[in-house]
Amino acid sequence: MQSYLFSTTATTALTHRRRRATSLAAAAVTALLAVGLAAGPAQADGGRHGGHGHRGTTLADFAERSDRFVGTAIDNDRLSDPTYRRIASSQFNSVTAENVMKWETIEPSRGEFDFGPGDRLVDFAQRNDQLVYGHVLVWHSQLAPWVTESDFSPQELRTVMTDHITEVAGHYRGQVQRWDVVNEPLNEDGTLRETVFQQKLGESYIADAFRAAHAADPDAELFINDYNMEGITAKTDGMYRLVKRLLAQGVPIDGVGVQGHLTLGNVPEDMRQNLQRFADLGLEVVITELDVRMELPATGAKLVQQAKDYHQVTKACLRVKRCTGITVWGLGDADSWVPGWFEGEGAATLYDEDYRRKPAYHAMRATFAAGGWWNWHGWRR
Ligand code: XIL
Repeated sequence: MQSYLFSTTATTALTHRRRRATSLAAAAVTALLAVGLAAGPAQADGGRHGGHGHRGTTLADFAERSDRFVGTAIDNDRLSDPTYRRIASSQFNSVTAENVMKWETIEPSRGEFDFGPGDRLVDFAQRNDQLVYGHVLVWHSQLAPWVTESDFSPQELRTVMTDHITEVAGHYRGQVQRWDVVNEPLNEDGTLRETVFQQKLGESYIADAFRAAHAADPDAELFINDYNMEGITAKTDGMYRLVKRLLAQGVPIDGVGVQGHLTLGNVPEDMRQNLQRFADLGLEVVITELDVRMELPATGAKLVQQAKDYHQVTKACLRVKRCTGITVWGLGDADSWVPGWFEGEGAATLYDEDYRRKPAYHAMRATFAAGGWWNWHGWRR
């Protein structure tokens, strides 16, 4: 599956055709929305109709035809629910651990690693022929308290950090295709966030983290990930300068993760341009944690706007050759982190509380389908 997923053969001409494809996608979305809404409440998900060797109709099937992966964040505690498992395994061809690979879970005390839950997720992915997006090696949040409380000397903290990376990326060597090596390193003005790592080690912690991850798993693709990375802003300018510095130093960085935690109706117009400028540096781009939250209650009009937003993001990714995939943060609205973190907001994912497909699901799938249609015709010319 991997080689198929990444065998992008797009030429300039194809890119041009893709541009036309996306306006077709917009028409398809509008049509689908009209049909979907006229048909009343969405159907409960029926699972994957295709499979290997078939031209299936799942989200993953259409994403693959567009040479993209489509992922979901997995909450391990939900894997015992057959509906959750069925949708997660059939509609998506990539998974990210929503929490279980974070430092507080995986190294709760120094040198003591708990790989159990992460292993369970990797096992789930392998059984379902899915990619694994590793999240996350170095982050100031959900960090084990001992790291900040111990008041390590800079030299010791550097060792603590690189040991953590060596153990975790080494444990999952060959099983995780991409890692968020450093998460949320930036302030909104584009300067470096004052985390414990930044305070004690300065900017060099980032280069060291990537070098340690590369040494532990030379085949994994290594990402720097942050939120508010969609449009061209002071923050993304800061990221642009940072990754340029890293590349100039020969740091083994492969890509930029754009989290994509969006509010309704606010996909930046210049998202494609922003993704493209990172791609132009030779980097891969992934939308790593997409969700579009809204003030509750959700209404028909809001769900239609949300479908347009998912369409816009998918279209922006499809128009950038090096944007290789999109992960949605949470399987259904009942699983989403949004209600717990943003008061009064929710309904941010592709499935409603009862795992019925929302307009956003259909919009995203139709957009991938349009991208795949042009791919296929482009290859045949
Ligand atoms: C969130 C999870 O979804 C929640 O379950 C958890 O309580 C907090 O973290 N940026 C990230 C993710 O990189 O790890 C966060 O995930 C959401 C914001």
